[in-house]
Amino acid sequence: MTDQEYEEHEQDLSGARGMRTDYCGDLTAEDADRVVTLCGWVDRRREHGEKLAFIDLRDHTGVVQCVVDEKHDLRSEYVVQITGTVVKRPEGMENTILATGAIDVQNCTVVVLNKAETPPFPMHSRQEIDETLRLKHRYVDMRRERMQRNLRYRAVIQSAVREAMEDQGFTEIETPLLIASTPEGARDFVVPSRQQPGNFYALPQSPQIFKQLCMVGGIDRYYQIAKCLRDEDLRADRQFEFAQLDAEASFVGQEEIIEFISYVIASATDAVRGVWPESIPQMSWIDAMEHYGTDKPDIRFGMTLIELTGLFEGTEANVFKTECVKGIIVEGGAESIGRNRIDELTEMCKKWGAKGLAWFRVGDDLELDGGLTKFMSEAEQAGLTQMMGAQPGDLVLLQSGDRHLVRDVLGRLRLEIGRPPIDEGLEFLWVVDFPMFESINDNGDPVAAHHPFTMPHVDDVDYLVRDGGESLLKIRSQAYDLVLNGWELGSGSVRIHEPDVQKRVFAALGLSDEEVEEKFGFLLEAFRFGAPPHAGFAFGIDRLTALLLGEENIREVIAFPKTQSGSDPLTNAPTEIAERHLTELGLRTLPPTD
Ligand code: AMO
Repeated sequence: MTDQEYEEHEQDLSGARGMRTDYCGDLTAEDADRVVTLCGWVDRRREHGEKLAFIDLRDHTGVVQCVVDEKHDLRSEYVVQITGTVVKRPEGMENTILATGAIDVQNCTVVVLNKAETPPFPMHSRQEIDETLRLKHRYVDMRRERMQRNLRYRAVIQSAVREAMEDQGFTEIETPLLIASTPEGARDFVVPSRQQPGNFYALPQSPQIFKQLCMVGGIDRYYQIAKCLRDEDLRADRQFEFAQLDAEASFVGQEEIIEFISYVIASATDAVRGVWPESIPQMSWIDAMEHYGTDKPDIRFGMTLIELTGLFEGTEANVFKTECVKGIIVEGGAESIGRNRIDELTEMCKKWGAKGLAWFRVGDDLELDGGLTKFMSEAEQAGLTQMMGAQPGDLVLLQSGDRHLVRDVLGRLRLEIGRPPIDEGLEFLWVVDFPMFESINDNGDPVAAHHPFTMPHVDDVDYLVRDGGESLLKIRSQAYDLVLNGWELGSGSVRIHEPDVQKRVFAALGLSDEEVEEKFGFLLEAFRFGAPPHAGFAFGIDRLTALLLGEENIREVIAFPKTQSGSDPLTNAPTEIAERHLTELGLRTLPPTD
C-alpha cells in the first residue's frame, strides 16, 4: 500500500467523529472557507505579539496550523478543541514541509479539554531518547510520529495476514494460555494454581500441540495470530511475549505450506511496501551452513565462504593442517581495512572461539602479503588467489580448524564486515532440508533442530537409534525456515502423525516411557484416534513488522515492550506479591541467589 492509499484508507474509516468535524491531517485547500472543529494536542506554539499565537494542532492524522487571536495560556501537549475557518494561504506563503501547509485555520476559538505537564522528553528531538524513559512514558512516546507509524502499520500487516490466510481457507481458532508445557526449547513462564496448590500451568511457548490436536479434530486448516511466551534472554529480535502467525494444515506437505506462507508474506510486504515479492528462493540447510556459516543467511550481499580444505591437503603450514579451511574475500579490503581493524577483527574471532585470523593482502601482480605466506608453498599461494577469485587490492581472510567452528566464525565475520543496514533491501529465503538433530549434548542426548513433533525424512526413520550420535546426526528432517535479511522469520515442519514414530523420536531424545506418558500421553492417545498427515509453520509478527518498517529492534513495533532486562518501566512489572497472596497459592519465596 502506498502512503497515499494508506491515508485514503484511514479517511474512509473515519466515520463517527464525536467532538470534531474533521481530522487535522485531512484538511486541504479544497476545504477553504469551511468552519471546522478539530481536537488534539498542542504540538508547537509560536507567539506573535500580545494576542496572536500560531498553534500547530496534532492528532493521529497529522498537524495543522491554527491562528488564535484570543489570549490563552496554552502549552505543549495540552489537549484542546479548536473551532475556526479554513483559509487558503496566499501564494508563496505555503509551508511545503507540512502536508496541510496550503491552509491555516483562522479566527479560532479554543477550548482546553485538559492540561498537560511538560513532556518527559522533547517531542521533536532528532536525537535518540533514552529508551527506559521512552518506555516509562510510553503513552507520550506513542504520540510521536515513529510509534504512530509503526503501530498503525503493524495493524495493516496483521489485517493483510488474516485476509491472506482466510483467502486460502484457513480458520482462526484460539488456543488456551493456561496449559501444560509445550517444548520449543526455551524456559516456560509458569502460573501457580490456587485450586491445586503446588501445581502450575505453563504459558504457551507456542500453540504447537493444540494446533496438531485441531488437525486430529478435523479443522483441516487452522491459523491464529497467537501470543507466545518464552522465558529467554532478551535481544533486539526477542521479547518474553511475542506474536506469531501460527498455521497448520492437513493432507498437505512442505511444498504446500511453503506456498501458503509465501502468499501471506507477499501480501504483508505488499501492504506495507507496495511490492509483491514474486518467488522466494530456496537453499538447503547444508548449503547455507557451508556458504554462509549460518542457517539464516543474509543473502543481500555476497562474500560467501569458499572451501579451501582441498588446497591445503599435505601442507607444511601447521595452521592449515586441520579438518577444514575456508575463506572470504573483501573486495578492495587491502586498502579499506587497516591494521587496527584487522586486529579488532582478530579479537572478535577469538571471542567467537577461533585461535586467530589469517589474512592476506592481494598485490598488483596477485602476490599475497601476509604473515603466513612464509609457511605456504608457491602453489598454495597461487591456488589461494585463484580459488578465492582474488583481484589486486582485495583482502583474503581465512579460518581453519573444526568445520563447525570455521563456518560459524567466518559466518559472523562476513556479517561484521559486509552486512548492509537492516533497512536496505528485502531478501526472503526459504532454508530447507534441516537435519533432525543439531548436535549431541553433554548428557549424550541429541538436540532437536526443530521441535520433537517434526517428521524425519521417510528414508531415515531407521536411523532413530541411540548409538552415541552417529546415526542420529545423519537423519534429515522435513523442516524448513523462512529467513529475511539474515533474521529467522519463521519455522515449520511436516509433523509426525503416527504414534509409533513419535514414540521412537521421544526415545531417541532420551525420554523414558514414563516421562513420555506423563508429558505427551494425551497427544499419543489423540494420534491413535485417526490423525491425518499434517504440516505447519509459524512466523514472528514482531520480526516481520520490524523488518518491513526498517526497524532494528522489535521493541519499536510493540506498544508496551519489556526492556532488555525484562522489566516494564511503566508498570514496574515484575513486582512482588503480598504474603497473603503467596499463602493462598501455597508458595513461599526464597532469598535471591547470585
Ligand atoms: P519457533 O520456535 O521457530 O517455531 O518460532 C517461530 C517464530 O517465532 C518468532 N519468535 C520470537 N519472536 C520474538 N521473540 C521471541 N522470543 C521469539 N521466539 C520465537 C520467530 C520464530 O521464527 N511451533 C513452532 C512452529 C511450527 O513448527 O509450526 C515454533 O514456535 O520469528
